[in-house]
Amino acid sequence: MAATTIPRGDAEATVSTSRKTALVTGITGQDGSYLAELLLAKGYEVHGLIRRASTFNTERLDHIYQDPHDRDVRLRLHYGDLHDGVGLVNLMHLVQPDEVYHLGAQSHVKVSFEMPDYTGDVTGMGTIRLLEAIRASGISTRFYQASSSEMFGSTPPPQNEGTPFHPRSPYGAAKVYAYWVTVNYRESYGMFATNGILFNHESERRGETFVTRKITRAIARIQAGLQDKLYLGNLDAKRDWGYAPEYVEAMWRMLQADEPADFVVATGVSYSIEQFVEFAFERAGLEWQKYVETDPAYLRPAEVDNLCGDASRAKAVLNWEATTHAPELARLMVDADIALLADQLAGRTVRVDR
Ligand code: NAP
Ligand code: GDD
Repeated sequence: MAATTIPRGDAEATVSTSRKTALVTGITGQDGSYLAELLLAKGYEVHGLIRRASTFNTERLDHIYQDPHDRDVRLRLHYGDLHDGVGLVNLMHLVQPDEVYHLGAQSHVKVSFEMPDYTGDVTGMGTIRLLEAIRASGISTRFYQASSSEMFGSTPPPQNEGTPFHPRSPYGAAKVYAYWVTVNYRESYGMFATNGILFNHESERRGETFVTRKITRAIARIQAGLQDKLYLGNLDAKRDWGYAPEYVEAMWRMLQADEPADFVVATGVSYSIEQFVEFAFERAGLEWQKYVETDPAYLRPAEVDNLCGDASRAKAVLNWEATTHAPELARLMVDADIALLADQLAGRTVRVDR
């Protein structure tokens, strides 16, 4: 809880506040948007790092957006980039967060094979830039690193906090680096720094090129007669899929714990991509074999065949447990994409600009 200098148009006001302040990188992403909602509901002042883009990239935040001209604004967005170390130091000085949730990353595994250098820089080096920004600004804060089950790669399931890493992509390798620098800053500087090793988690806000959302969006379009085929890659890989809003609760609990530690967050059950396809098409009353075709363009140079997490530490220490599993997840995502498409077709999704 810190005195915070808050920009208000051209002027700046220093506001002394007893509420907790959080800084979220990756706030415009799937998890960032759910986490921002959760923190606002808990009374936090939430600051988010956003990238400058030539198009709007804050769609997932539109429903919680607060006009900076209003009084008592608790959600503030700041331009920045994980490439820009000095900007990160300045942001730490400005915001003085009690908690930092580092979710920003080039998070697409297949894309990381096409952009390995960039992915290493943003997803790996971005983490140490942020940790150094915390040190350089001299603040005391708790730090959450968005680590990933991709770090386990080819190590067979069940995977827990003691399972050796064997990443299978530039993304997975970058996350291993970020994992270890987080541990290192905890051990070297006594920082409250924690890794959440999250298994795949999805939602109606999932990025459109991840497999679950690609499937559920396609179903809505097929049903509406706008699409006739869905091209996918490997249908045999297995994933432990949970529901994103439940997973951001686990992130928050990690930073409220007595001691910093690393936690696996997972449902403990895995399904193949083909099974997810079946659950999703069945929800819409469609026969998937009529529509799904394979395209080698979506295969990866190396695949992660089977992820299935053992989240017993999270249950014992954080009292956290997943409740939504893949069959239900598929159904809720299909329903959401059908409703979204209906809204789009009816012109009910007009953005309100301020
Ligand atoms: P996401 O939807 O892809 O969001 C990624 C976020 O990072 C976006 O806000 C993106 O901004 C931002 N970002 C990308 N490059 C950046 C840069 N150079 N500087 C600043 N911000 C940048 O990912 P997610 O699913 O919410 O996942 C959140 C985090 O958890 C990621 O680190 C991901 O790797 C990790 N993770 C995810 C899962 C999962 O299953 N979802 C599982 C384990 C770990 P734009 O909106 O501008 O692109
Ligand atoms: N994206 C995609 N597109 N994946 C496909 C496709 C396709 O057309 N067809 C089959 N797949 C398979 C992939 O080969 C992979 O085995 C599986 O579907 C899941 O792919 P994604 O949904 O892209 O997710 P991911 O498991 O590679 O990575 C996600 O989960 C990680 C945690 O394990 C991302 O969210 C990562 O950021 C996260 O760390």
